[in-house]
Amino acid sequence: MPHTTINGITLHYADEGDGSPILFLHAFPLSGAMWQPQRAALADQFRLIVPDLRGFGATDVPPGLTTMEQCADDMAALLDHLGLAQVAVCGLSMGGYIAMAMLQRHPARISALVLANTRANADSPEAQAQREINATIAEAKGSATIADMMIPALVASHAEPHVVATLRTIIEANRPAGIAAALRGMALRCDSFATLQALRLPTLLIAGTDDALTPLDTVRMMHEAVPSSRLVIIPGAGHLSNLERPDEFTAALRSFLS
Ligand code: MLT
Repeated sequence: MPHTTINGITLHYADEGDGSPILFLHAFPLSGAMWQPQRAALADQFRLIVPDLRGFGATDVPPGLTTMEQCADDMAALLDHLGLAQVAVCGLSMGGYIAMAMLQRHPARISALVLANTRANADSPEAQAQREINATIAEAKGSATIADMMIPALVASHAEPHVVATLRTIIEANRPAGIAAALRGMALRCDSFATLQALRLPTLLIAGTDDALTPLDTVRMMHEAVPSSRLVIIPGAGHLSNLERPDEFTAALRSFLS
């Protein structure tokens, strides 16, 4: 896996395929490994850039918080390193928060946007408090405990066992400090509805009927906020729709970006 040093960290990423570039931003608490089904399916037509975001996978865990703004700045620096002026950005859940932070901080770098299983609103005070509790649990008990706590919400109850096994492997490979840092950073993210209302880029919103973490009403509000958006709701998909329904997810992406 290639790597580069940017913004004080060593960041690992995959870069494969030819064609117009897509930057894939992974969910919490996963890594670039969650995009394996899309890498396998789309490298024939696109250049796929798949980083491990700061604190996850093989990328460094810096001290302190991992804010969505810092991750957005990391992505702009990665694109500089790769000599890419503009890319399509596809973010799922936390990856979507980072994509929205990129819209605010580096709008010129984005040619088209895919926001999957994500929401534009900020955390409530209760959600922020829960994130701090979970960060403390991650630090005290480790990644396996976070996997036990989160997996039931991350996939639909009928998710295939191999998907659950893959998910557990990815989460358990992450370092607890990286998980805690992202929890504390996500709690600080701002509301992005105004940013979406000003958005004029081609935008694809993907949701799952069985997503326990992203209310469909919120995704519909995002769809209404962005006149240039298309909404695809994948039947039977939970929160990690790209892993649970890879064919439908990839088909939606290919048809939108082709
Ligand atoms: C994710 O899948 O990235 C998380 O559900 C995001 C979050 O905790 O808000």
